[in-house]
Amino acid sequence: MRIGVPKETAERERRAALVPDVVKQLTEKKLQVTVESGAGEGASHPDSEYTDAGAELGDPWGADVLLKVAPPTDAEVARLKQGQVVIGFLQPLTNTALAKGLAGAGVTSFAVEVIPRITRAQSMDALSSQANLGGYMSVLIAARDSGNLFPMMTTAAGTIAPAKVLVLGAGVAGLQAIATAKRLGGVVTGFDVRSVVKEQVESLGGRFLEVEAVKDAEGEGGYARPLTEEENQRLREELAAAAKRQDVIVSTAAIPGRPAPLLITADAVRGMAPGSVIVDMAAETGGNCELTKPGETVIEGGVQVIGPLNLPSEMAQDASALYAKNLSNLLELMLDEEGKLALDFDDEVIAGACLTHEGEIRNEGARDAAQASPGRVSGPEVRETPVDPEEDAP
Ligand SMILES: NC(=O)c1ccc[n+]([C@@H]2O[C@H](COP(=O)([O-])OP(=O)(O)OC[C@H]3O[C@@H](n4cnc5c(N)ncnc54)[C@H](O)[C@@H]3O)[C@@H](O)[C@H]2O)c1
Repeated sequence: MRIGVPKETAERERRAALVPDVVKQLTEKKLQVTVESGAGEGASHPDSEYTDAGAELGDPWGADVLLKVAPPTDAEVARLKQGQVVIGFLQPLTNTALAKGLAGAGVTSFAVEVIPRITRAQSMDALSSQANLGGYMSVLIAARDSGNLFPMMTTAAGTIAPAKVLVLGAGVAGLQAIATAKRLGGVVTGFDVRSVVKEQVESLGGRFLEVEAVKDAEGEGGYARPLTEEENQRLREELAAAAKRQDVIVSTAAIPGRPAPLLITADAVRGMAPGSVIVDMAAETGGNCELTKPGETVIEGGVQVIGPLNLPSEMAQDASALYAKNLSNLLELMLDEEGKLALDFDDEVIAGACLTHEGEIRNEGARDAAQASPGRVSGPEVRETPVDPEEDAP
């Protein structure tokens, strides 16, 4: 069986789907790996490291299994053949054109975003491994761009008070942001609409911000539920009051498949002291701050609102190492003892992560999104229900 690793082409994408260490483990298991020349460049892995690890350099697009980081472009989807397997960040709930394209091409695709968050699949959880690095990086950006030191510092010229840091959203990224800001010496407050995380915030040395507007908004699968407009309104008012006291806000609040919740209004930004910094990790999905512009820094009344994109890519070497390990753990589930592809759709992880198979969009959320958006792609018709083998029988 051959695994292919194309060079990523998306803007700002420096990560690689496999790193040489993981290539070595795969080739030792008698799997063949074809890496496109330059695929590891952005992650500081020259071609020679891949060939030393047992990969061959060449065109990876004919491989049985293609490993990607960013979603394939239209031109890349056009190169895929029926029956090929593609694994990567495929934006299953928002990129309906891609889901339709992959189904139309008869490709079996797995979106790492929908790997079930169960204990057995933790080692495959790419969403978490990358969010963790993103949370870390967002605090480093805040620390670099803030006019204030994070730690308290006593010097001959006087004592500097520690920075006050508020982290909004305490999922994987937010908890890492809290831990990182704490390590840097900040006085950290964390907030989330899921009250269950209060204990986690406190265990990292943060204070949990209690609000009156929302007591608990835990929804399905451990994710937050969308708030009502009234809850949102009251929450934004309380957060505006809390924002005034902060030197730094790092916001990470998200609800899968939806635009990011708006937590910090333009007025709340205007209420903050000049020199304060907001790093909005939700910039890619619309931002938690009203003034956020994706990929840009907006300055309002001396407050910087930073909207970084693809933070894990900024630490491409470690991000790729963790992602490659996630993928190889997932691959292991997909192979039989002889290293041949043996997809067991009765396995909760395989079934849960599957985006498209045999011309159908298999993931329920992706299917609903695709049905709601017009337009089909060329190729076999996208079937919206599983194929019944007797249905087509004469
Ligand atoms: N294998 C596992 O068991 C596993 C692994 C990782 C995460 N999880 C769980 O999955 C869930 C989601 O984690 P995630 O990091 O992917 O979350 P996420 O990226 O979807 O969202 C980030 C955080 O934003 C919060 N949020 C949403 N709306 C908000 C609002 N209006 N105001 C403030 N905060 C808001 C969410 O509650 C979440 O904590 C959590 O319960 C987490 O513990 C489980």
